[in-house]
Amino acid sequence: MGEPYYITTAISYPNGKPHIGHAYEAIAADVIARFHRALGRDVFFQTGTDEHGLKMAQKARELGKTPAQLASEMSQYFIDMCAALNVGYDNFQRTTEDRHHRASQEIWRRMEANGDLYLDRYEGWYSVRDEAYYDESELIEGEGGEKLSPQGTPVEWTVEESWFFRLSKYQEPLLALYRDHPAFLKPDSRRNEMIAFVSAGLRDLSVSRTSFDWGVKVPGSEDHVMYVWVDALTNYLTGLGWPDEAEAFSKWWPADLHLIGKDIVRFHTVYWPAFLMSAGLEVPKHVFGHGFLLNRGQKESKSLGNVTDPLALAESFGVDALRYFLMREVAFGQDGSYSPEAIVLRCNAELANSYGNLVQRVSSMIFKNMDGKLATFESRPEDDELHARVATACRNELPREFAALNFSTGIDAWMRAVFACNQYIDEQAPWTLRKTDPERMRAVLLTLYMAIRDLTIAIAPVVPASAARILDQLGIPADERVYAALADAEWYARRVAQGEALAAPSPAFPRLELPSEEATA
Ligand code: MF3
Repeated sequence: MGEPYYITTAISYPNGKPHIGHAYEAIAADVIARFHRALGRDVFFQTGTDEHGLKMAQKARELGKTPAQLASEMSQYFIDMCAALNVGYDNFQRTTEDRHHRASQEIWRRMEANGDLYLDRYEGWYSVRDEAYYDESELIEGEGGEKLSPQGTPVEWTVEESWFFRLSKYQEPLLALYRDHPAFLKPDSRRNEMIAFVSAGLRDLSVSRTSFDWGVKVPGSEDHVMYVWVDALTNYLTGLGWPDEAEAFSKWWPADLHLIGKDIVRFHTVYWPAFLMSAGLEVPKHVFGHGFLLNRGQKESKSLGNVTDPLALAESFGVDALRYFLMREVAFGQDGSYSPEAIVLRCNAELANSYGNLVQRVSSMIFKNMDGKLATFESRPEDDELHARVATACRNELPREFAALNFSTGIDAWMRAVFACNQYIDEQAPWTLRKTDPERMRAVLLTLYMAIRDLTIAIAPVVPASAARILDQLGIPADERVYAALADAEWYARRVAQGEALAAPSPAFPRLELPSEEATA
């Protein structure tokens, strides 16, 4: 087994159904997980639901349910979303599980043993929507003059007895972490924000609540439940069996990547590393704060009535087309915009007309004119040139960019290799060679067969189901669908020696159309 790679998404509040932002993060994490698996690493991919806190308790009350009922019901939608989008996690962690309560109480005890927890009174602002405490100085003014959180959510004045965590003590260690490990937090713009925030001074953090009881009980202080972020963040340890399974834990921890939205960077790069340092645990290697997806440039909200169900998009356009669009269209880390028109335009131009059409043309010509049979052939310099071009894109450029989470750039390099194949096929015109020079026609088609195999292996993490279908059709064995196989000079000779014919081709990426209301709008 390869080197371990532990990747997580944020865990979502199951107070409503998943929206496009949840789908975006789950898909991106799944692409990263599949990419690292294809590089030969031993990957553990965790996602889940964040089920405690005031927001969940209030929503349940509003619906006349218990918070536990609401959590179980809604958590299932997130599990279903992952299944529908081909998001293949290794663990779906729910924070209401017993083992998670035990892990949260353990980290609490360790922070307490380190002298970092004390009882006091919290008096200040709290946003239930963000489940966050804010300083007076951070608040902004709403249209009616009311106070709002920096995220624009309502805040309420809160006074209660509370445990505090000595966050102030960690100001220097945190600044040292950002300074000595610049890759700890990416993109750099987010890192600069956190450096500014921490440099301005840290106040101790209220880490328990007494006004409601939907949470993890504070050990030895049973009328307190933990502040929901203390238990939520601990999910990253729970999933590894911490603290009981020391071996699994030391294999996977520290996490290689926490993939999160840009709005929760503070929790992951200030509070979380401070809790971990206090508990004597290592901090994660990387945190990446991705941007938001905007619907035609606007944030989705119930009041605007522009909330999109990600599963409806997958239904209309196909799971792989949606995955491809999201990874291709948006520069990872920045905000991006989507619309049905943009999905149709992008996927038709690139997946259907360029790549899909290439696969379809080449495999049906091999099937019709060569009985689907592979053979050895003499290559000409232009064949070798194409081969080298495709190899560079698939072996070097795409993997290098994906490793740096530059998905759009990586796919762009891949797409340029697809264009090169299409240019080659037009120049070589195998349909003409069929009559004039059948031997050369075979060489051209087989050169393209080899190129398509490389292109398909390279892009598979993004469009896993379609890639698997194409590779099945090309007869590529399952254990050769990895990046290392791209450097294997013998693969083609082995395929020829096995003498199996190609399966009858079926279209890989149908052309998309706008759903009719959109087309007429
Ligand atoms: N539930 C939080 C949100 O949706 C994210 C929790 S991530 C974790 O904003 F790390 F705390 F688990």
